[in-house]
Amino acid sequence: MPKERLDKMLSNLGYCSRSDVRRQLHRVKVAGQPALKSDQKADWTEISWDDEPVDPDPLWILLHKPEGVTCSHKDVGKLVFEMFPQRYLMRKPALSCVGRLDKDTTGALLLTTDGPALHRLTSPKSLVDKVYRVLLAEPPNPAHLEQIRQGGGLLEDDDKPLLPCQVEVVGERQVEMILHEGRYHQVKRMWLALGNAVEALHRVRFSRFDVKGLAEGEYRLLRQEEVSGL
Ligand code: URA
Repeated sequence: MPKERLDKMLSNLGYCSRSDVRRQLHRVKVAGQPALKSDQKADWTEISWDDEPVDPDPLWILLHKPEGVTCSHKDVGKLVFEMFPQRYLMRKPALSCVGRLDKDTTGALLLTTDGPALHRLTSPKSLVDKVYRVLLAEPPNPAHLEQIRQGGGLLEDDDKPLLPCQVEVVGERQVEMILHEGRYHQVKRMWLALGNAVEALHRVRFSRFDVKGLAEGEYRLLRQEEVSGL
């Protein structure tokens, strides 16, 4: 683990500004010992702030996104970033959503400060699984289900054919879908193109991360070993 100056590291981790670290040094320990100077070098795993280990670097969050919250730093209404402590928002590199869920979509949302991983996971080439539970306005038609499974369909204002997609009927008006791409409003636009409408959308799983054990609005930090290889 690379060592860095405390003032640089703690300001990048969002605890206080670089110039404030000297004034706040009484709150910092390195390997259990009071910090000596703001330019002392350490790695983040050795540091505590108010006797709590500092947040991991990079930071990974799994949120059970509730309805009515927007995945944006700036918008009207409630923002996903307001659900976390202020210091997460002061991080450098900044905390970002790994792709977006619509304001009315609930379920598994990852956020990270790991720029390269964010780029990999949100690239059009990423084939990461996204599993959705979809409530439709009308019962799904078997021919439409087959079209979705085969892929090749077009969305409005999009000239790239859709990839094949797994879809299973799980209720009279409910289906579960596994997508490997992440286009804008993709699930809603897929059903709209077939003359049906999505009434409610929940992401059950993103990659290997599901929201079992997290109530809507709850989140947990992911451990480094959970995110390895992403
Ligand atoms: N597809 C949508 O239409 N909306 C989402 O929020 C996610 C996938």
